[in-house]
Amino acid sequence: MKLWGGRFTKETDKLVNDFNASISFDKELYKHDIHGSIAHARMLGRSGIISEKESADIVAGLETIENDIDNGSLIIDDTYEDIHTFVEANLIERIGDTGKKLHTGRSRNDQVALDMRMYTREQIDVLSDNIFEMQKVLLRLIKENTQTFMPGFTHLQKAQPVTVAHHFAAYFEMFIRDRSRLSDCRKRMNQCPLGAGALAGTTYPLDRSFTAGELGFDCPTRNSMDSVSDRDYLIEFLDCAAIIMMHLSRFSEEICIWNSNEYGFIELDDAYSTGSSIMPQKKNPDIAELVRGKTGRVYGALMSLLTTMKALPLAYNKDMQEDKEQVFDAVRTLNMSVTLFTGMLDTMSFRKDRMAESAKLGFTNATDAADYLVKHGVAFRDAHGIIGRIVLYCIENNKAIDDMSLEELKEFSEVFGEDIFDAISLETCVDTRNTTGAPGKTSMEEAIRFYENYISE
Ligand code: ARG
Repeated sequence: MKLWGGRFTKETDKLVNDFNASISFDKELYKHDIHGSIAHARMLGRSGIISEKESADIVAGLETIENDIDNGSLIIDDTYEDIHTFVEANLIERIGDTGKKLHTGRSRNDQVALDMRMYTREQIDVLSDNIFEMQKVLLRLIKENTQTFMPGFTHLQKAQPVTVAHHFAAYFEMFIRDRSRLSDCRKRMNQCPLGAGALAGTTYPLDRSFTAGELGFDCPTRNSMDSVSDRDYLIEFLDCAAIIMMHLSRFSEEICIWNSNEYGFIELDDAYSTGSSIMPQKKNPDIAELVRGKTGRVYGALMSLLTTMKALPLAYNKDMQEDKEQVFDAVRTLNMSVTLFTGMLDTMSFRKDRMAESAKLGFTNATDAADYLVKHGVAFRDAHGIIGRIVLYCIENNKAIDDMSLEELKEFSEVFGEDIFDAISLETCVDTRNTTGAPGKTSMEEAIRFYENYISE
């Protein structure tokens, strides 16, 4: 069945049909489409546009369609143009001519705009929940690793010692922002386009506030042309999605590095690693690599939709049908990536000895050694020079500053005393950094309290 045969005298070309049709992918929207139609039919009945009986019959018919699709007894037929056509045709088959009244005062333009909004709103909630689950795992790891020392890096060079807790808390912060961005996007998009019609509203006395309320929207949209042509919320959603993937990709990269033989900071669980078909010794971080790789396709979805929307005149244009596959794919990619990433984090183990050793051998306490001299009256610039010479000496002699004897140290400055060793131990270097946001014990305790609150709210 077609919804628009009347003015045509020829059948659509088969290729044109295939090119034009969207049902192969927009069938994903069947529930949203049916729920939107139910609200519309209820409103038509209440407003006296159709009779209460007709309204009730349509609603009941739509409910059986949803039920039958859910339980697999009704298969969505790919020969229809789109999901809207399929549902309407099936309704007419079930309840007869009354079904033909469903589309009164409605266009597929406001219908599809509504479906996509409902889908996106729902998926924002799913994604946000998935990120929240990941944050719970992260918080456990943060709490367990406040004394797991590791080198912090700048330029991928060992810089100053931090802890796994502090490092992971950086990602916790990113995910807080990600969820907050999703929630902003959800708030802004939560207006109902249903009733905008094709572009210019309708002459029927539709109660748009009723349908908006029925479908959980804050209010109806204010401009009917904007309602059917606005895809900003999808672009915003894809923007949030791209940023989330960027965060996961950075995290993935670190996991790949830490899992390498050279670093050996972590060990991924067997269930989250894969082997090589030729090299028996290999245990590869494929999940992290794939998440990093899939970031590309989510960025692609964002660029694709921005480009589709560029220069589109008002109001609806068929170009906009291209929004769906990109958004569906991004949603699937995001949810899979976040869920798998959570499992990978939850099961990985830390090689604390190697991390501490790495922090120790990388002169990550050089700043603290200089600060020690400053505290004993040496000017910082001079202290910097002294420690620089010590580092050079250590490199030549293949040792850490901590491994030097007091006599050796005194060769470089008379100021050194026995207390230097405690002052530059990893524990001291980290635990005394207690400015807000620093890795020190007190600062991290404060941060953890905040994260615990965040998780329990
Ligand atoms: N499949 C279409 C889309 O996704 C539905 C709206 C069709 N509207 C129209 N005027 N042909 O955008």
